[in-house]
Amino acid sequence: MSINHAEPTSFAYTDANMKLVQKAIKKYPEGKQMSAVKSLLDLAQRQMGEQTGSAWLPRAAMDVAAEILGVSPMRVYEVATFYTMFNLKPVGKYHLQVCTTTPCWLRGSDDIVSACKKASGVAHFGGTSEDGMFTLKEVECLGACVNAPILQINDDYYEDMNAERVEALLADLKAGKSLPPAGSLGGRASSAPAAGLTSLTSNPTAGE
Ligand code: FES
Repeated sequence: MSINHAEPTSFAYTDANMKLVQKAIKKYPEGKQMSAVKSLLDLAQRQMGEQTGSAWLPRAAMDVAAEILGVSPMRVYEVATFYTMFNLKPVGKYHLQVCTTTPCWLRGSDDIVSACKKASGVAHFGGTSEDGMFTLKEVECLGACVNAPILQINDDYYEDMNAERVEALLADLKAGKSLPPAGSLGGRASSAPAAGLTSLTSNPTAGE
């Protein structure tokens, strides 16, 4: 499956998404409709994912959002180009987003980047594999430093990653398996200590 990089000349929200667009706009007072811009862009990107297999935000979709919000297209472009979660180019089926900010870096994000490149066949950040399966992106802190290093794939966080876990996960995806449940792949519960409990290790009962 290769990716179609052509910029579409038009975009229209589906009826179902148009209802969600109106719902998002109604959350804000009259005259403040622009506050719904991220919701509209997110809906457009997800719709592209469903319709084309690549969740990205073409300019035609931004223009439609601007028209609905009653603002100039530039105001929408400014938002879309600021946030890394909006993809301005087509992406692969699995969008690998590696956090390389200091806590993840100290916990081995360089190894995660190398393993992603090796297992996906993507040579550099911003690239997409020839089969259209993977796009690799470098991102700033994902807010999950406690279980660093973090690899985000599409909407989900995979935590406590190392090279071995990355290679096994990507091999499974290449073999057609689904993404595993999000969270730590190191076996820890939530953000509990990685080596097991360090406090509250007994169950105190009266008299003991
Ligand atoms: S530094 Fe990677 S999640 Fe915060």
